[in-house]
Amino acid sequence: MALKVMPKASTKLQGFLREYCISLRLSQHPCIVGLFGIAFHSQEHYAFAQELVVGKDLFAVIQPRVGIPESAVKRCASQIASALEFIHGHGLVHRDVKPENVLLLDRQCSRVKLADFGLAQKRGALIRLISGTLPYMAPELCAVVALPPDGQRAPGSCTPADDFYHEFADWRGGGPAAAAAAAAAEPPSQWQRFTPACLEMFGELLEPDAGRRGGWAGSRPTWTGTGWRGRRTPPTRWERTGRSASASATLSVRRSGSVKMAD
Ligand SMILES: Nc1ncnc2c1ncn2[C@@H]1O[C@H](COP(=O)(O)OP(=O)(O)OP(=O)(O)O)[C@@H](O)[C@H]1O
Ligand SMILES: [Mg+2]
Repeated sequence: MALKVMPKASTKLQGFLREYCISLRLSQHPCIVGLFGIAFHSQEHYAFAQELVVGKDLFAVIQPRVGIPESAVKRCASQIASALEFIHGHGLVHRDVKPENVLLLDRQCSRVKLADFGLAQKRGALIRLISGTLPYMAPELCAVVALPPDGQRAPGSCTPADDFYHEFADWRGGGPAAAAAAAAAEPPSQWQRFTPACLEMFGELLEPDAGRRGGWAGSRPTWTGTGWRGRRTPPTRWERTGRSASASATLSVRRSGSVKMAD
């Protein structure tokens, strides 16, 4: 058994009960962490009991600049998509999907479970404060967070720093015509490692325009049935752009969720 313990000093009772009730309601799905229906409080803490997932979380097994095997990514993506469909079917949204919140029962990702409903909301709810982890947010949310009232970008915002996504978004453009043109043009260097079928999938999932963005559900069998990694290894950024070594820094995401530039 695992206990999720929250200090009363920084947790409202309503917030605790909300996370507990949502987690309990959703815990029957095989790809969502189980709950025992036990909640209690001490003088200083609120707590509820969860199924103990003995493996690591996904963040702990992703090797920087290496990742995890394609087969493991596909297994993981299918299971998390299934969990998200279930959550959405209950009129809720998770709002904090990231590797730290994906728990692994084994290193091969044969069984994974989505956890942490601390930010979950009813679908369509009006949000006063955007919380979560910037590099994992949809671009339209990043844009809101990145532009505070004084017009200055917040430190660590993903919008100016995530060059790889911007290159991809520029390449894809918006709408079907631009997507067709992009399919004929060479992808940006960091995306050349992927097969055309995989780039097509990214094009739907990462579409900058939220109204046109596709979901995983309908296309899942097609996407998992094709290869994602091509044989071509991308050139390093300085080879392609001629920029200095410092300008070739790549984005990495620390466990804390902040954005760090790595040489
Ligand atoms: N049921 C569980 N079994 C095993 N490990 C778990 C379980 N639930 C959570 N963990 C581990 O604890 C970490 C934090 O849990 P969780 O995501 O629920 O809390 P949190 O609200 O994000 O807290 P924090 O802000 O401290 O990360 C997870 O990233 C995971 O590594
Ligand atoms: Mg978490």
